[in-house]
Amino acid sequence: MDVIPAPRSGSTIESLDAFVLDETTVVDAGPGTEGAARFLWADLGAATGLPLPPGSGADGETIRLRIDPADAGHLGPEGYKLYASVDGIAVHGGGAAGVFWGVQTLRQLLGPAAYRRAPVRRDTRWVVADTFIEDAPRFAWRGLMLDVSRHFMPKDDVLRRLDLLAAHKLNVLHLHLTDDQGWRIEIERHPRLTEVGAWRSRTKHGHRASPLWDDTPHGGYYTHDDIREIVAYATERHITVVPEIDIPGHSQAAIAAYPELGNTDVVDTTSLTVWDNWGVSPNVLAPTDSTLRFYEGVLEEVLDLFPSEFVHIGGDECPKDQWKKSRAAQARIEELGLAGEDELQSWFIRHFDRWLADRGRRLIGWDEILGGGLAPGAAVSSWRGYQGGIAAAEAGHDVVMCPQQQVYLDHRQAAGDDEPMPIGYVRTLEDVYRFEPVPPSLGPEAAARVLGTQANVWTEVMQDRSRVDYQLFPRLAAFAEVAWSALPAPAERDFAGFERRMATHYARLDALGVDYRPPGGPRPWQRRPGVLGRPIEGTPPNV
Ligand code: ACM
Repeated sequence: MDVIPAPRSGSTIESLDAFVLDETTVVDAGPGTEGAARFLWADLGAATGLPLPPGSGADGETIRLRIDPADAGHLGPEGYKLYASVDGIAVHGGGAAGVFWGVQTLRQLLGPAAYRRAPVRRDTRWVVADTFIEDAPRFAWRGLMLDVSRHFMPKDDVLRRLDLLAAHKLNVLHLHLTDDQGWRIEIERHPRLTEVGAWRSRTKHGHRASPLWDDTPHGGYYTHDDIREIVAYATERHITVVPEIDIPGHSQAAIAAYPELGNTDVVDTTSLTVWDNWGVSPNVLAPTDSTLRFYEGVLEEVLDLFPSEFVHIGGDECPKDQWKKSRAAQARIEELGLAGEDELQSWFIRHFDRWLADRGRRLIGWDEILGGGLAPGAAVSSWRGYQGGIAAAEAGHDVVMCPQQQVYLDHRQAAGDDEPMPIGYVRTLEDVYRFEPVPPSLGPEAAARVLGTQANVWTEVMQDRSRVDYQLFPRLAAFAEVAWSALPAPAERDFAGFERRMATHYARLDALGVDYRPPGGPRPWQRRPGVLGRPIEGTPPNV
């Protein structure tokens, strides 16, 4: 059985009388499973050209979808059991999500052509081998962070990315919506954030020390309706979209739009533009009440649009130079009785921590936010390594493990000169397969604080979706198995077995039109250097 991510347990029996999907097949959807039925009808219907109408047919003609706590409830809301035989197919989920993931597995059982958008052969027999699968995820948070700021990804790309996440049973899309190089979400009460902040006049070609720019203007943003569509599309696929609004650093695009947000006593913020360089801009938010009110306004609209429990407020890489030089910032430090600039950063974070908690949401931020004492409900994305996550979990905070050394998928996937975007740590497919989100040093109570894991993809080097495909695949398939399947300790993982299953999975990715990196190295057109081009000797990762 070539299912990826691997199910908890399952068996397939080759038999003469297997279930065949054909014109007579109907979908009998129990209460709460209508979304999974729609998916079957829309996606499998398109691939097979079969009508797959709702109904309750004879045994051998019916795909039965049920939320069935008596049968599958012990597997949790995302767990499911899948039964397939000549007598019919049944997917029993612990909850609606479980039924949906079971349907994803069913699609894999039908073969790679089930991933196309229209039938390619008239004589295809859609046979499902006799199968019993019992399955449930290891982690509740199985995420991908997509940076749509450095390079804007049009709405259709995001919807397609959600399809790809669903096909791999990943259930969180963390959207990095704001950064120095672009603001990507319409905020009605602050229209200049997108009128000005969503556009940059040129893009640095190469590392930030490079003298080269691409003079093509770049930008774009999502309207409120785009966001509503993305969130609804994700919800239908049991994926949560977690928005990120980065404060108090990574804010130059916002300051270019509203100069009063910056440290106006140390820099003429009226002359700032959306940043056309890579790296970390020194232009950070001024610690004023009006800045807080401004971002509360931003977040009010964000909360209206995104129902997710967690809201990401960034908090990473905030240079303190401007605050050191700013009399106003120094006066603020004194007035608040803070020890220095680091505490000023914590003051920002704590403010929004409380503000979100008052509105029934929870703050999540990059591990720098640990510096200042967090509210109990706040959670941490551990990116500089495991250490932040370990400290957070031991202090009672929930953690998402995404260490850059392991799961930054913008980083190169092979050593040597062939990689088109050769930045960062070398993380091969096997490295990702052997990534362990829970460090062995954590005791059981702290380990239970690890909500899960996510892969992050920063897009300085990726100007379009084919680049993102290349960096994500096949590694995201390995990551999905790490996040979903209960794999043994890293050294004991059967990577050769995974590679064998990948042979089928590559055919699925081909059917989906994913521009993945083949096992032998990049294809000729994939060798074209990305925006960042060749690395500069000694370049630190992700800069
Ligand atoms: C990060 O990579 N700066 C979170």
